[in-house]
Amino acid sequence: MTDILQDALAQIARDVDAGFDAMLAVPRDGRQRLVEAMRYAAIGGGKRVRPLLLTATAELYGVDRALAVRASLALEAIHVYSLIHDDLPCMDDDELRHGKPTVHKAFDEATAVLAGDALHAFAFEVLSDPQTTGDPFTRAELVFCLGTASGMNGMAGGQMMDIVAESETFDLPTVTRLQQLKPGALLGAAVEMGAILGRVAPEGRMHLRGYARDAGLAFQIADDLLDHEGDEAAAGKALRKDAGQGKQTFVTLFGADRARAQARMLVDQAIAHLSQYGPEADLLRALARFIIERDR
Ligand code: IPE
Ligand code: IPE
Ligand code: MG
Ligand code: MG
Ligand code: MG
Repeated sequence: MTDILQDALAQIARDVDAGFDAMLAVPRDGRQRLVEAMRYAAIGGGKRVRPLLLTATAELYGVDRALAVRASLALEAIHVYSLIHDDLPCMDDDELRHGKPTVHKAFDEATAVLAGDALHAFAFEVLSDPQTTGDPFTRAELVFCLGTASGMNGMAGGQMMDIVAESETFDLPTVTRLQQLKPGALLGAAVEMGAILGRVAPEGRMHLRGYARDAGLAFQIADDLLDHEGDEAAAGKALRKDAGQGKQTFVTLFGADRARAQARMLVDQAIAHLSQYGPEADLLRALARFIIERDR
């Protein structure tokens, strides 16, 4: 990993943890357990790839960092909620996440469902809050972008396809579509939200969308390769589950070697979309490479 990437990941992890810590104060009433579960899931642990994608893109356009960090809290809250629900017994039934018990294990299932629900809502509370940005048009664009990426045309739609894939055989275009929605939509939203904050017109975002699409697909192939051959202690989650659960991935379709080659090709393609930028986009380039080199 390059030094600039290592520093940037460490910095965004600190900022995101501090932001969640400040905004998720534990009330001393009947909601205490809910907010404790939200904090348990949201603070510490994750790689913060989506917040870094958002802030690095925003930085290309000179956006104030505090503003970009706030928007990235909203995006990461959706990601954290999706993981809490993904780990539930009715979905992947996992007991370990980020090296510690999953929320339904540390608390209980009802609390885990509610913590996910409340983090989902938190995301839109933050984005629509005039304290995030005083410009109502930018707020509306951010809300529309994250809403679309989270719902039936984004992450939740991809999660549904993932479950259907356990009992049906999907062809390559369908698995690609699944992957584009499941992790791809939120990774794409990260870049898009950075561009919205930078007030880049939709026509000017095409190359960034191309970068996010290719990097997002590579990201899921890397996750599936980790499941196939990664180290559980490093990953902090149970691995070698996809095949047994009948999940369909590039690894189950093509085998690990071809999947790895495909991921490398996608990363090169993602970086090629950034050709109009100079060194100011080096962080986005390094992040794309990290996506397939990571061990967690
Ligand atoms: C894991 O995402 C789930 C997928 C979408 C593949 P990440 O690997 O970004 O999760 P954390 O937040 O870093 O643990
Ligand atoms: C989950 O994908 C993607 C989400 C949208 C939450 P996985 O089920 O492959 O993620 P892990 O392997 O549990 O992190
Ligand atoms: Mg899953
Ligand atoms: Mg899972
Ligand atoms: Mg996985």
